[in-house]
Amino acid sequence: TRPLLIAPSILASDFSKLGEEIRAIDASGADWIHIDVMDGHFVPNITIGPDVVKALRPHTSKPFDVHLMIAPVDPYLEAFAKAGADIISIHAEAGPHLHRSLQTIRSLGKKAGIVLNPGTHERAIEPVIDDVDLILLMTVNPGFGGQAFIPSVCTKLRRIKEMVGDRNIDIEIDGGVTPETAPLVAEAGANVLVAGSATFKGGPSAYAANMAAIREAA
Ligand code: DX5
Ligand code: ZN
Repeated sequence: TRPLLIAPSILASDFSKLGEEIRAIDASGADWIHIDVMDGHFVPNITIGPDVVKALRPHTSKPFDVHLMIAPVDPYLEAFAKAGADIISIHAEAGPHLHRSLQTIRSLGKKAGIVLNPGTHERAIEPVIDDVDLILLMTVNPGFGGQAFIPSVCTKLRRIKEMVGDRNIDIEIDGGVTPETAPLVAEAGANVLVAGSATFKGGPSAYAANMAAIREAA
């Protein structure tokens, strides 16, 4: 079994001091840094672009887990790769040429992830399962932090865990992860947990305990 990894989503951090926030979660035990990129078109919110990712890169050596909620996505893959992303994930719902996008990410030397919204069937994974390093299942509808976990995704998670079998693929969960919901998804087969509000609540002095609580609960 894979070790459980915690990936704090910086969407819930203080955007006026992003560099400091990243150094604080790094020092507090984050495994990956989850960066939510939203375009105001694929999802109803706008966040950050490749220049911000590039500016943050010197602040940590932890992997940048870049979650692209943008459509079209292909024109931006190279920019995020060059900005310092380690894992680049794209939504199955965001474009008609999944293989091309995933292969582009790998050809840029990065790990490729596929993301499914809560309403998307697991069969969307099947055609690309050998082209991905990571499968990310949304347990909220993407666009905002702090939303409630959708428990029915656990059924899909179990089926995907089975589809993956012994392939070298990480299974990540994003949305509403807390010490209460973490055990549900860990038990169903997830090994990477994104946590935004549950990591950043209480300010920097609480980050280590917040992440430890999720890890222990899982
Ligand atoms: C939602 C984002 C998530 C979000 C998670 O569109 O993809 O990564 O930041 O936030 P929490 O953990 O607060 O649900
Ligand atoms: Zn995300």
